[in-house]
Amino acid sequence: MRILVTGGAGYVGSVSVEALLAAGHDVSVIDDLSTGHAESVADGVDVVDGPYTDAAAVAKLLEARRIEVVLHCAARSLVGESLQNPARYFVDNVAGGIALLEAMRAAGTNRIVFSSSAAVYGIPDTSPIVEDTPLRPINPYGETKRSFEGAVWWYGVAYGLRAATLRYFNVAGATERNGEVHDPETHLIPNVLAAIEGGKPLVVFGDDYPTPDGTCIRDYIHVADLADAHLLAIEATAPGDPRTEPSSERGMLVCNLGNGGGFSVRQVIDAAERVSGQAVPHEVGPRRAGDPPVLVASSARASEVLGWQPARPTLDEMVGSAWEWRRRHPDGYATA
Ligand code: UFG
Repeated sequence: MRILVTGGAGYVGSVSVEALLAAGHDVSVIDDLSTGHAESVADGVDVVDGPYTDAAAVAKLLEARRIEVVLHCAARSLVGESLQNPARYFVDNVAGGIALLEAMRAAGTNRIVFSSSAAVYGIPDTSPIVEDTPLRPINPYGETKRSFEGAVWWYGVAYGLRAATLRYFNVAGATERNGEVHDPETHLIPNVLAAIEGGKPLVVFGDDYPTPDGTCIRDYIHVADLADAHLLAIEATAPGDPRTEPSSERGMLVCNLGNGGGFSVRQVIDAAERVSGQAVPHEVGPRRAGDPPVLVASSARASEVLGWQPARPTLDEMVGSAWEWRRRHPDGYATA
């Protein structure tokens, strides 16, 4: 299949490109490289260096490459930044996303897989979180993901767009080629590994939560498992596939992805010490605003409807592969 990956030079996008190529697809990437890394895109893939938000240019690209499906991974994705600068999030994630949908409409590309976020749920009342849980985002980032999901839904109703949306929390781990490099880095696992490498000691944001060891529990998913889910979701948007029939009761297919269990911050630290054989310098600090104690997704629908199961579900696989990648790339992509 001919597939365009937006954000294909980012962490999730680049690993998805690897999986699509391995499955024999013809892959194109569009990425403005504002947060992505050109070096992360597999050899032989043509990278269009530009915004996905320019409807006329993207429509031309879709037509020229006869793209059948768009995998939409590009987004602004920092919760903290979204609270400081919501305009950037609404302009890029919502207005930009709609420009992409318009480009698709103009070019007659009517299949999309949207890499969404479990941030759409906010602080849910029940756990594990199922897809029908009310969407009550607590930050602009989550709100923009919800808004774009809504647009995709209604494009399905009105224009017959076939769509699948995946919602997931904490992506982790690395492949041989690609790992996680953000600047600034706010995520737990990279910060834990940076602390081992002699960076700043890790600050554990609170150990007085109502959880077994007092630290927050999150649902970590290996980035390669997420890429597998993207592949399965793309297949589910095939013409005639009842799972994404726009006129069906369900319409857009929505699936959560997770391990179904979750791990605490302390368990992540323990795993990092196991895989590296070194201590994680850390101290306990105050809670971070907006952090719910437990966020765990139910992946029952992804299993039932997509046939997806995480193949690398352990923390040792996720933290271990991230550690290996960092050892091979001590300066991130500068040593790719
Ligand atoms: N944490 C620390 N110290 C750190 C960094 C994180 O203790 O230096 C803790 C956090 O308090 C949290 C856990 O580690 O309990 C995970 O935090 P991350 O920042 O790695 O990830 P979040 O769970 O906050 O964010 C994830 C995704 C977001 C998504 C959000 C939805 O990364 O994209 O879930 O709630 F929006």
